[in-house]
Amino acid sequence: MNAVQPAAVTRQNKGNIAIVLMQSPPVNALSKSVRVGLIEHISAALDDASIEAIVISSEQSLFSGGADISEFSSGDFEPPLPSVLELIENADKPIVAVLNGPAFGGGLEVALACHYRITFAQNKVGLPEVNLGILPGAGGTQRLPRLAGVAKALDMIVSGKPAIASSVKGLFDLVVDDPSQLMASSVDFINDLIANGAPIKRTKDIDIDPATAPDELFAQYRQGIAKQARGFFSPERCIRAVEAAVTLPLDEGLQRESELFMECMKSPQARSQQHFFFAERAAGHVADFDKSTPTRDIKTVGIIGAGTMGGGIAMNFANAGIPVVMLELQQEALDKGLALIRRNYSNSAKKGKLTEQDVEDRMALLQGTTDYAGLAEVDLVIEAVFEKMDVKKQVFTKLDEVCKPGAILASNTSTLDLNEIAASTSRPQDVIGLHFFSPANVMKLLEVVKGEKTAADVIKTSMLMAKKIRKVAVLVGVCFGFVGNRMIEPYGRESNRLILEGASPEQIDKVIYDFGMPMGPNTMGDMAGLDIGYFVRQSRQAFIAHDPSYAVVADRLVEEGRVGLKVGKGIYLYEEGSRTPIPDPSVLAIAKQEAQKLGVEQRQHSEQEILERCIFPLINEGAHILEEGIAAKSSDIDVIYVYGYGFPVYRGGPMQYADEIGLDKVYAAMCKYRDELGDYGKMWFEPAPLLKKLAEQGKGFADFKK
Ligand code: 3HC
Ligand code: NAI
Repeated sequence: MNAVQPAAVTRQNKGNIAIVLMQSPPVNALSKSVRVGLIEHISAALDDASIEAIVISSEQSLFSGGADISEFSSGDFEPPLPSVLELIENADKPIVAVLNGPAFGGGLEVALACHYRITFAQNKVGLPEVNLGILPGAGGTQRLPRLAGVAKALDMIVSGKPAIASSVKGLFDLVVDDPSQLMASSVDFINDLIANGAPIKRTKDIDIDPATAPDELFAQYRQGIAKQARGFFSPERCIRAVEAAVTLPLDEGLQRESELFMECMKSPQARSQQHFFFAERAAGHVADFDKSTPTRDIKTVGIIGAGTMGGGIAMNFANAGIPVVMLELQQEALDKGLALIRRNYSNSAKKGKLTEQDVEDRMALLQGTTDYAGLAEVDLVIEAVFEKMDVKKQVFTKLDEVCKPGAILASNTSTLDLNEIAASTSRPQDVIGLHFFSPANVMKLLEVVKGEKTAADVIKTSMLMAKKIRKVAVLVGVCFGFVGNRMIEPYGRESNRLILEGASPEQIDKVIYDFGMPMGPNTMGDMAGLDIGYFVRQSRQAFIAHDPSYAVVADRLVEEGRVGLKVGKGIYLYEEGSRTPIPDPSVLAIAKQEAQKLGVEQRQHSEQEILERCIFPLINEGAHILEEGIAAKSSDIDVIYVYGYGFPVYRGGPMQYADEIGLDKVYAAMCKYRDELGDYGKMWFEPAPLLKKLAEQGKGFADFKK
């Protein structure tokens, strides 16, 4: 027998006030049942002669997380949210929104249509639709400017960022300081309204004074967001909708908003950004553990190696208030690492992001040691020493000796075999990879690498710990480079090969930048240091030796000391103190010489070829990774690429991008390059069996379940 579903909306009468409560866990999304429930209960209260005012609030800790995003793909919007809001706004009894918790998107739009709004000072409100590739489609772009002013509304709608309730002047009729007093204060407020016969205040009756929103305001706003909105479709539509609020009466403004909303909703970007919203959350749902799996307490952390990564990793824990012991073999290296952390914190303080006291508090959580005995009591150790297997093994052998039973032993290795590292201890079940990205205190991504023997509670603890230090964790399996770096290899390889074939680095970088990546592969290579890839290649001769053309141009540059930005010359040249790449014709000359030596024909490349040759092999590698089970689902790969590599979120990640354009197209292009690029094509463009299979079945990567 099916359990009876509790009602999504309830109503209780308290004297002459009807209290309508949404109760649709987890976030009171305004799904069909909530919309139907709101109409039903508000209509009943309006028909009830004993009721003089209506409250809309929530039984959950949130007021509402907005429209139900999971319903968007169904195309069934009945009854439409705007019609619920029309009922509210046109009601002839006062309707008061009592925001007992955060209200986002459609949730805030419900409140905007009410006649009065009450909340507590620290509550959060926002219109984050832009993050889903759309715009507020239930009057948010028309009503918020009327209440909060055009400048504030533009900011909230276009940035999508939540605001503290008390900072949004004009939005609320009553803001209480103490959340526990919210209901009592609201009842007093409503009783006063009734007693005084207060008017019904409809937002639609407010006219915006055009003088408060001159054309320059919009022009300046567009200019101000140009950089961060590059490539995105919906921010400009958000601005146009707010412009309509200034010039049109509400009914016409709503019509304009609705047209712009549909324009966004139908765009591939909206599908991709909504895919990404769920992808990010789905990354936390892993089959390796469940609710019954225990977790281990992480109260203190040890970090081995206070270099680039160790320092950044330590900052994450200190920021979360978790004490850290950092170990280096030499006092000098330790002092240098700690001094660098202090400098980073002080720079944040100079920018006003931290107070001096914050800096001291965080530094007080960081202790240094050169003695392994100092790690005897820590709950988690993260090793971030040189990327050499013998060094890592020595460290783990030592950790096995000194760490208490049950401590989690983690490695930040970016390429090495975690199973081999784990085997150097007597407790491989406690060993896991925690692959942070550089700069580790900034980048949100954490690849959590599970070894053959890693225990379920160690995986669960690591995934939950990531949340505490504000990282997005994705669980991956062991292979060279794990997911992110394994997939970036063909991308870098193709960029190099295209230079050898006569494409210029700036031509390649422009195509990739225009696609939406933060920078092209050549600028990225220079920034990271070309020597990093060079050393990786040295250690992977078996993988690349069959291709004599593999990264030859980059190898030549490194051998000439041109290792990138840090020395002022790499693929590009850099003026002293500048990070702006300057094209260097001598790189083209090197490419020409090498191409002649190897018998590679130099030619012109179309933008399409450059894009496909860089991006499609990366996707193809993703298909191998999925098939091998290194990533559990294609959306996990997307999360890694958006958060770890700046893949444009409006394309949803590489796997979603492939699904969006169609796997048949990706497959056909891989076959084309395999067949057209001679031996080189045969080496590197063979489509992955999974890509072939799904393309033939007319499916996408998202359909694949291992
Ligand atoms: N629709 C459908 N499901 C939603 C949802 C929504 N609006 N918001 C959250 N969820 C789901 C999540 O997918 C997650 O599901 P899972 O447990 O199966 O993974 C669950 O609710 C809990 O979500 P979080 O893990 O994100 O919970 P938090 O407590 O960390 O955060 C939140 C809560 C701040 C509300 C956050 O979920 C959020 O930002 N939600 C989206 C807010 C938003 O973008 N609203 C606008 C929607 S579009 C709209 O309103 C259009 C309108 O203008 C017409
Ligand atoms: P780094 O060279 O900046 O720092 C390494 C530190 O470890 C040095 O301070 C060194 O003194 C110390 N060290 C070396 N051997 C040690 C030992 N036996 N005991 C204690 N300390 C020792 O190197 P970086 O860049 O921080 O890399 C560290 C690890 O992080 C490597 O495994 C690397 O692959 C990985 N990684 C690096 C990324 C990057 O972008 N730099 C990104 C992700 C992972």
